[in-house]
Amino acid sequence: MRTVTKDNITDVFLGYFGKDTDPRMREVMASLAKHLHAFARDVNLTHAEWQKGIEFMEWAGQISDAERHEFVLLSDVLGLSSLVDMINSTPEGTSSSVLGPFHISGAPDIPFGHDLKRHFEGPVLLARGRVTDPDGSPIEGAKLDIWQTAPNGLYSSQDPDQDTYSFHGIQTTDADGRYGFTTVKPVSYTVPTDGPVGDILNATGRHPWRPSHLHYICTADGYRPLVTEIFPDDDPYLDEDTVFGVREDLVMKYVEHPADTFPDGFDLSGKVTEPYLVADFDLRLVPEG
Ligand code: BEZ
Ligand code: FE
Repeated sequence: MRTVTKDNITDVFLGYFGKDTDPRMREVMASLAKHLHAFARDVNLTHAEWQKGIEFMEWAGQISDAERHEFVLLSDVLGLSSLVDMINSTPEGTSSSVLGPFHISGAPDIPFGHDLKRHFEGPVLLARGRVTDPDGSPIEGAKLDIWQTAPNGLYSSQDPDQDTYSFHGIQTTDADGRYGFTTVKPVSYTVPTDGPVGDILNATGRHPWRPSHLHYICTADGYRPLVTEIFPDDDPYLDEDTVFGVREDLVMKYVEHPADTFPDGFDLSGKVTEPYLVADFDLRLVPEG
């Protein structure tokens, strides 16, 4: 087509695909072009506005590095990460939730009862539960990769005062599918706002807060990996998570118990002098395939 108009440009684009193009690539790219063209027409996009859009993406690229993932954050605050998650979730298993940009690989193995809180100030949270299949049968040897912020609301990769693997650990479930560890009660925190994503939140009157949560990645042979988070039901940001990560089955109560009921078998057994919180949470994995 020699004469391209604003009405036929989408069809012209679709006609440019090579005949050997992978069918899924064709489907995704065709739909992307249709929606992008429709978006530009819908808002009557100006040169100046699209220039701003390009500068935004350039800034996001420049600010990103091995530890800062601005495009992941953009996908998160646009709701795209959560939408992709939900499109691909299976109802038989525990809901998945956003991975976020602060997971780091290579965290140390931690035994049952390990304490992640160490010297940090704040209430003790004992997190425990079972990893099971959809019928409730225990999965032995499942790996639970755990991470959270320190009480200052920062992940270790954001905070020069924390060790690399502060508040990170990987636990393996026992024959009953059990995991259990102690940590500090997680806090609500803000996503990074000093880059282009912060500008978007600001320009659209949005706050950058996430409700407090513990991150888990649970993997086991023969099961679909589960990336998820758990949230306490009394967090003020539960209904307005800036990255849309909250799901009904991931919200739970942290139950307070007197210090003298603290169980045996934990690093902190016999050392807890204040009331502590318990988060009981089971994870259901779905078989692969
Ligand atoms: C997080 O929970 O670590 C997170 C998720 C999405 C964006 C920023 C942070
Ligand atoms: Fe987080």
